[in-house]
Amino acid sequence: MLSGSFKLDNKTALITGAAGLLGIEHATALLECNCNLVLTDIDSKKLNEVQNHLKKKFSKSKIFIHELNVCSKKSIVDLNDLLIKENINLDILINNAALNPKFEKNNQLESSSRLENFSLEKWNLEISVGLTGAFLCSQVFGTTMANSSGGGCILNIASDLSVIAPDQRLYKKEGLSDEKQPVKPITYSVIKSGLIGLTRYLATYWIGKNIRCNSLSPGGVFNDQPEEFLQKISSLIPLGRMARKDEYRAAVQFLCSDASSYMNGHNLVMDGGRSIW
Ligand SMILES: NC(=O)c1ccc[n+]([C@@H]2O[C@H](COP(=O)([O-])OP(=O)(O)OC[C@H]3O[C@@H](n4cnc5c(N)ncnc54)[C@H](O)[C@@H]3O)[C@@H](O)[C@H]2O)c1
Repeated sequence: MLSGSFKLDNKTALITGAAGLLGIEHATALLECNCNLVLTDIDSKKLNEVQNHLKKKFSKSKIFIHELNVCSKKSIVDLNDLLIKENINLDILINNAALNPKFEKNNQLESSSRLENFSLEKWNLEISVGLTGAFLCSQVFGTTMANSSGGGCILNIASDLSVIAPDQRLYKKEGLSDEKQPVKPITYSVIKSGLIGLTRYLATYWIGKNIRCNSLSPGGVFNDQPEEFLQKISSLIPLGRMARKDEYRAAVQFLCSDASSYMNGHNLVMDGGRSIW
């Protein structure tokens, strides 16, 4: 049972990249607080499946879906206009969308991600989704929230890599020369560090308009990674394991509700202690 300040009855949250691994968890977290949702993603098929799944579990809340590419200012403005026309007042924005290269048994990082080979096209695309997308959504939806009587709150989903460098030894593959070894791409570090700057900027921008902006920096989520990787990363984490995908729900509930009403401009690092070692 949630205490009063966590309740989000009659509030509406928009989540970007909502059809992905953590997007569904953020949605579930807010639905547990009785929030209404506008779930957005570039992948409309997956979005439909997520809506059907969540509607079965949470029949009390309204769950709208809308295909949205966070790189397109026009589609963000069109959605904002549509929400205003339909009298849907946004209270919460979660900037979650990213091109998040998964390191799984059947999907390993590529050597084309190495700094020496990293193409300008890849750089521009990844920055445009993970960082520019968060800027554009904050600019459009944040301005609407700032102009509404109730204000609102923005949550940027960063990563433990907003505060530490990637440990490239984690991705090392036996039998490959140094120049062929896969790595976590440079864009990931740049985007996640950039989101912390965006958070601080927005947290202080709309003075007197009751807009709060914070970041959540999750550590890596267990998702069928190769055993060797799991052993290596677990040894870097004081709690000795990766996160379960549902372990960030309570933080999302806290950061998006009045439970955190005096928290603004903060980066909540939740990484099993990895970044303090
Ligand atoms: N999974 C983890 O271990 C982990 C750890 C720390 C931080 N994060 C961060 O959490 C967030 C979610 O990660 P995830 O693991 O759920 O990733 P994911 O790849 O499962 O989901 C990302 C979603 O974003 C969508 N997307 C991609 N391009 C888009 C665009 N142009 N416009 C709109 N949507 C777009 C994808 O369709 C996908 O549904 C990301 O910001 C990621 O960096 C994830």
